[in-house]
Amino acid sequence: MANTIAVVGSQWGDEGKGKIIDYLATRADMVVRAQGGANAGHSVVIGGKRYSLHLIPSGVLNPDAVNIIGNGVVFDPPAFFAELDSLRADGAALGQVYVSDRAHVVFPYHKLLDKLSEEARGADSIGTTLKGIGPCYMDKVERSGLRVCDMTGAGFAEKLRSRIADKNSIITKLYGGEPLDADAILREYEGYAEKLAPFVRDTGVLVDEAISAGKMVLFEGAQGSMLDLDLGTYPYVTSSHPVSGGFAVGSGIGEGRIKEIIGITKAYTTRVGEGPMVTELKDETGNLIRDRGHEYGVTTGRPRRCGWFDGVVCRYTARINGTTGLALMLLDVLDAFDEIKICYAYEAAGERVEQYPASIDKLAACRPVYKTVKGWKADISGMTSWDELPAETKAYVAEIEAVCGVPVKFVSVGPGRDQTIVR
Ligand code: IMO
Ligand code: MG
Repeated sequence: MANTIAVVGSQWGDEGKGKIIDYLATRADMVVRAQGGANAGHSVVIGGKRYSLHLIPSGVLNPDAVNIIGNGVVFDPPAFFAELDSLRADGAALGQVYVSDRAHVVFPYHKLLDKLSEEARGADSIGTTLKGIGPCYMDKVERSGLRVCDMTGAGFAEKLRSRIADKNSIITKLYGGEPLDADAILREYEGYAEKLAPFVRDTGVLVDEAISAGKMVLFEGAQGSMLDLDLGTYPYVTSSHPVSGGFAVGSGIGEGRIKEIIGITKAYTTRVGEGPMVTELKDETGNLIRDRGHEYGVTTGRPRRCGWFDGVVCRYTARINGTTGLALMLLDVLDAFDEIKICYAYEAAGERVEQYPASIDKLAACRPVYKTVKGWKADISGMTSWDELPAETKAYVAEIEAVCGVPVKFVSVGPGRDQTIVR
């Protein structure tokens, strides 16, 4: 395997990226997050204990790995320190963590504006995680954001006061909300600035040096390709670039330096939040997938919408990421089904839809075209090699490879570190 590997979500997030990242991170020298923020929810099970990570790279659970929160991440100081504290309280041996001086900082007004704008959207709400992600990226794009280097530099108090004054006028005049207390926020964030100083680096240099030295560098995607701001199901997307292209900009390296791109996909499909989902099952089959897969959000606790594997989505995301291999997660969830369906095309108004539509209205009109295969009806969760898997399971994996045009390199049959089959 190449020494630079990116792990990207091939669906709408929650694909089990944390587990493959953790698996690869046990071999990695460095793990890099380059987009998103505390909206991610990566759970990793080690020795029967479940660890939930939101902002810190999953490589933190490998005491020998250096973990980078890159410039493309929106950095939430209280979430960062709470996460570090809870990992320490869990007794985990932790790797080193560094935070980019260029990362934009999430402030309380971003979280409040996330909530107020979602409420104002009413029935058209996006179903965000309310972590302030969109509003923080809005400030970045508008060029009024404050970065980690601002927090730890001179003049932070004046800069923050002026931003809070601006936001308070939006909060009160546009939304009729209560203004935020500038003094309290300032005190809190000056405290974080002091605690943060030892973690801050020009992380692009660290990543570049590690790659040049031939170290194994792992790029950890958060969210999923279908939530990409440009290429996902807009406007039901997040505000960053979870596709492989996002790693270069978001960590400050040249795009050609990442050699292997592993797309993570569930053996079925889930989505949280709003927006069309062509293979969604609002019936007993969907409920059974949800129960067997424990499909409730790590970050928000929301039940996830569930459905059969959408090959149109995965073929699309393989293209936009340049995926070199797939990791097929939660395959054991399908142990219970007599028959399993794979969506290999869409149809709308009696016509085949060949490419993933840009328009949400067109997407909402699409119906799945399924191929039905036989289930294996066996407990595969204890199987440790490819050869052991039932013939029907192998046939299902082969169908997924055919529909996506990418080889399946990892198969996961349970949450544990040892329940990963490498082909
Ligand atoms: P991981 O890394 C699943 C979804 C939200 C919402 C939309 C926008 O665990 O796979 P945001 O708060 O980002 O502005 O919300 O994106 N979303 C996720 N869905 N997994 C995630 O991360 C997600 N992060 C954001 O539900 O629909
Ligand atoms: Mg999640």
